[in-house]
Amino acid sequence: MSVEPTLSVFQPNIFDGKVAFVTGGGSGICKGITEALMRHGAKAAIFSRSLDKIQDAAKSLSSATGKECIGFAGDVRSYTDLEAAMKKARDHYGKIDIVICGAAGNFLSPAENLSANGFKTVVEIDLLGTFNTAKAALPYLKESQGSLLSISATFHYMGSPLQVHCAAAKAGVDAMTKTLAVEWGHYGIRVNAIAPGPIAETVGLQKLTPKNIDYSDSLMPIQSVGKIRDIEHASLFMLGPGARFITGHILVVDGGHWLTGMGTGAPPAMWRNAGSAKL
Ligand code: COA
Ligand code: NAP
Repeated sequence: MSVEPTLSVFQPNIFDGKVAFVTGGGSGICKGITEALMRHGAKAAIFSRSLDKIQDAAKSLSSATGKECIGFAGDVRSYTDLEAAMKKARDHYGKIDIVICGAAGNFLSPAENLSANGFKTVVEIDLLGTFNTAKAALPYLKESQGSLLSISATFHYMGSPLQVHCAAAKAGVDAMTKTLAVEWGHYGIRVNAIAPGPIAETVGLQKLTPKNIDYSDSLMPIQSVGKIRDIEHASLFMLGPGARFITGHILVVDGGHWLTGMGTGAPPAMWRNAGSAKL
């Protein structure tokens, strides 16, 4: 049975009175998650590097949902940027209940051609950025007995070619999710992650689809790539009261993709021939 996820399966007021802080909330999957939380009652603060982009996104989220959203410019690689933005959001709204670590950077590259700085850059955005976000959020999540959700991936479940940097970073995100769940559980804080598979109409899928690969449909057990809405629904569940007893969990939302062992979708003959070209 195929169910098209057009209508919300959650009560419209499930996040009434809640405040969410979302890194990477100005575009793609995390903008979708922010909008879904706002449509279900939350107010939001979103954070990413480009001031214009984040302010435009905050405006469009507010006008789409009728809920307040403020945008902060900063880099997740900078702890002080996050500390300052989080404090401003807490001062503005009076609390922060939900924190989403969604900011990420990625590109395809054979490890052989990846510079040390290229590896470091992705690990710093995806892994250190997640730690910085979680650490800066801790005082506020303690106050609210709130919830932290990271956006991971499935590249590290197998040997996904062209993804050594991101796979290493997201493996770290998963490890951190489990450790923080154990360390922070006694504060009443839940710590979880979602691991999306290929999601249509995102920068991620656009950047990570190797040339000559038709990522859609035939590579997917359920015969289609995912939609941002699929990740929205999973996030609403993981952040809502229905998941009260779930912590330290990484929820795979990928239509069964990783089980096929296809990784980035690039079969060995193709990535071996990638040579030194930047894909
Ligand atoms: N292939 C190989 N190396 C690459 C590369 C590519 N396609 N793109 C960048 N790099 C290397 C650079 O050459 C540089 O290394 P060097 O100094 O040894 O030359 C290093 O990565 C840093 O690049 P820079 O452009 O300075 O990084 P940045 O901090 O400005 O940008 C990125 C970070 C590269 C991850 C950029 O793609 C980005 O900002 N992405 C955000 C959006 C995104 O990726 N979304 C998808 C999420 S899944
Ligand atoms: P996206 O739209 O490019 O989202 C990434 C966001 O992170 C952007 O808004 C970007 O904004 C922000 N960002 C990047 N570097 C940053 C930095 N240093 N500091 C602060 N913000 C930064 O991509 P997406 O495809 O929706 O990906 C969202 C999340 O899903 C990521 O965690 C990604 O790894 C994960 N994911 C995606 C897929 C997929 O199919 N798309 C699959 C698996 C996992 P600025 O550039 O303005 O800073």
